Amino acid sequence: MANTRSLLVLPGDGIGPEVMGEVRRVIDWMDRKRDIHFDLSEGLVGGAAIDAEGKPISAETVARAKAADAILFGSVGGPKWDNQPFDNRPEIGILELRKQLGLFANLRPAVVLDPLVDASTLKPDVVRGLDIMIVREATGGIYFGEPRGVETLPDGQQRGFNTESYSTHEIERVARVAFDLARHRQNRVCSVEKANVMESGLLWRQVVTALAAREYPDVDLSHMYADNCAMQLVRNPRQFDVIVTGNLFGDLLSDLASMLTGSLGMLPSATLGAVDATGKRPALYEPIHGSAPDIAGKGVANPMAQMLSFAMLLRFSFGLEAEAALIERACTNVLASGLRTADLMSQGTAKVGTHVMGDAVLRELDKLNG
Ligand code: NAD
Ligand code: IPM
Ligand code: MN
Repeated sequence: MANTRSLLVLPGDGIGPEVMGEVRRVIDWMDRKRDIHFDLSEGLVGGAAIDAEGKPISAETVARAKAADAILFGSVGGPKWDNQPFDNRPEIGILELRKQLGLFANLRPAVVLDPLVDASTLKPDVVRGLDIMIVREATGGIYFGEPRGVETLPDGQQRGFNTESYSTHEIERVARVAFDLARHRQNRVCSVEKANVMESGLLWRQVVTALAAREYPDVDLSHMYADNCAMQLVRNPRQFDVIVTGNLFGDLLSDLASMLTGSLGMLPSATLGAVDATGKRPALYEPIHGSAPDIAGKGVANPMAQMLSFAMLLRFSFGLEAEAALIERACTNVLASGLRTADLMSQGTAKVGTHVMGDAVLRELDKLNG
């Protein structure tokens, strides 16, 4: 029995369309070889949407995103749009999607694949076998807190200000996601904030502690200040299983964690909302990297973070575990064969571009599929 699933693809800017092009080939492969069909449509977001429609995401695109079963997102931004008014910049495209679809839990796994043990800037012994999950809150905190703005002071100086803010409900729902994930992993959660400096961090710690005692007494909960967490991620990253943290700290710590795996070009993510009355869970999948203006248009970007984001989509939105694992296995095997995009080069490996990497993954998928 063939199933149809609706998928909105938003490639965005810079390397977004380049890496998405390779994922489109994987989607076609799934259609032909595994009888997995998508009702797929594309849309504009970020700078591409500003150019064509005047703003970083149109109401129509948001409506299509709400209607879709899942969204596959590339990346937005770039120097071309540096002079846009602040409230019309490309990054609004992704921030609006997160906010309007209630995508509050951003899952950012950092996994060191065996063939890439030597690609990390850290020693192999520190990163071998690493498998951590950063759960980043994505619709609150200082990204969205009010008041915010830039004001002119009586003496003529300017003052820029943003507000870090978290309510009990916002903290509990993202912490539940982290605890539930931990139960299927090593059953450990480290909650990260700065309760020593910020009231919002203090509340975060109290709420997570109370929730754990009430609903997750079986999960091993620890707490860490965000600055120490950054240090510990480099010193001994394998001490972590699941990390749960706010929007800004999660943004920073996940970019940091990406380098443990070899490259920012390897890290996928899933951003999930709450299950609605019809049983549907809004979900958007995107690499954690940006539009990489420094390499855009050269055909050298690593497509794996985007491919692995598609694998997460198959797993989390459609329960297609076998197909998700197939993509992950194919990526691992291609890397094991010695092919590398420029971001992952090390001695004894062969440098290839985005499209040749895509070719290799498709060949490997064929091989694994028998
Ligand atoms: P970036 O993630 O785009 O790039 C950082 C560095 O990593 C660059 O040197 C880049 O070449 C490299 N890199 C990133 N992805 C790569 C890949 N797949 N393969 C090989 N190398 C890769 O971050 P930035 O330069 O700070 O930001 C550029 C633009 O992207 C900005 O406008 C920023 O706001 C935006 N951005 C968007 C998203 C998103 O759409 N979700 C995420 C992060 C940054
Ligand atoms: C990310 C990006 C975004 C963020 C930007 C583009 C708004 O850096 O997804 O990590 O800060 O959340
Ligand atoms: Mn980021």
